[in-house]
Amino acid sequence: MAYETIIAETRGKVGLITLNRPKALNALNSQVMADVVAAANAFGADAAIGAMVITGSEKAFAAGADIKEMQSIAYVDAYTQDFFVGWEELTRTRKPVIAAVAGYALGGGCELAMMCDFIIAADTAKFGQPEITLGVIPGMGGSQRLTRFVGKSKAMDMCLTGRMMDAAEAERSGLVSRVVPAAELVEEAVKAAAKIADFSLPSVMMAKEAVNRSFETTLAEGLRFERRLFHSLFALEDQKEGMAAFAEKRKPNFTNR
Ligand code: CAA
Repeated sequence: MAYETIIAETRGKVGLITLNRPKALNALNSQVMADVVAAANAFGADAAIGAMVITGSEKAFAAGADIKEMQSIAYVDAYTQDFFVGWEELTRTRKPVIAAVAGYALGGGCELAMMCDFIIAADTAKFGQPEITLGVIPGMGGSQRLTRFVGKSKAMDMCLTGRMMDAAEAERSGLVSRVVPAAELVEEAVKAAAKIADFSLPSVMMAKEAVNRSFETTLAEGLRFERRLFHSLFALEDQKEGMAAFAEKRKPNFTNR
């Protein structure tokens, strides 16, 4: 399917979404939101796809929400229409989504990356929440998700000063899972997604669900939730196949989809 502001394509079992508003450094307007959500939903519903990657350009993953679209919004409209609520649908995607970030990931760009399941950064990546410089605060989850990623002190520093964090600091702080050379970013992210897509789909989806639950519940409830999911996997052919393949020293062939 063709979209206005993104390119959606498949690489084997991986759905690749590339933000494509180069003249605006991939600023996230409402069309980008609609396109990204539609593409993620389409890949989510496609049985041939096991994982997704969202990326931008070499210069910018995304330089934030579209300031020019936002600047004249009235409070009454922002509130009654719950401006930005549409992005929440992306976080309901049940298959894994990797953010592959090169260049600027600022404001909504950083927040979009954090909505994904993990972030692989190019050595050129720069993360920031500069909303304070515009007279506002993060509105797509930055104050909440960044704090969970990097802790209070650094999240306060980023949100209050609006400064940028380079890839090395982002890796040191736990914001990104790994840093790769910029020229290899998309290839490395697609390779990671392809590896995930080769595993048992129900196991992958439950692993994502279990890790995400840890942010929403107590340790005791989270452990109980994990154990119930773990038990349920023994009902699937993929568990028998995965463990038989190990014992027989061969590659598993997972078929539950
Ligand atoms: N919204 C709309 N347009 C943007 C944009 C944004 N967030 N970021 C960049 N652009 C546009 C610029 O206006 C410019 O357009 P024109 O050529 O028509 O003038 C084009 O993209 C190229 O940008 P620059 O000329 O500024 O490029 P640069 O290399 O000199 O600077 C930059 C790059 C430092 C990223 C700079 O563009 C910048 O500071 N951008 C804004 C970053 C920002 O404040 N982001 C937060 C937005 S608010 C938000 O995201 C709220 C939220 O919580 C969701």
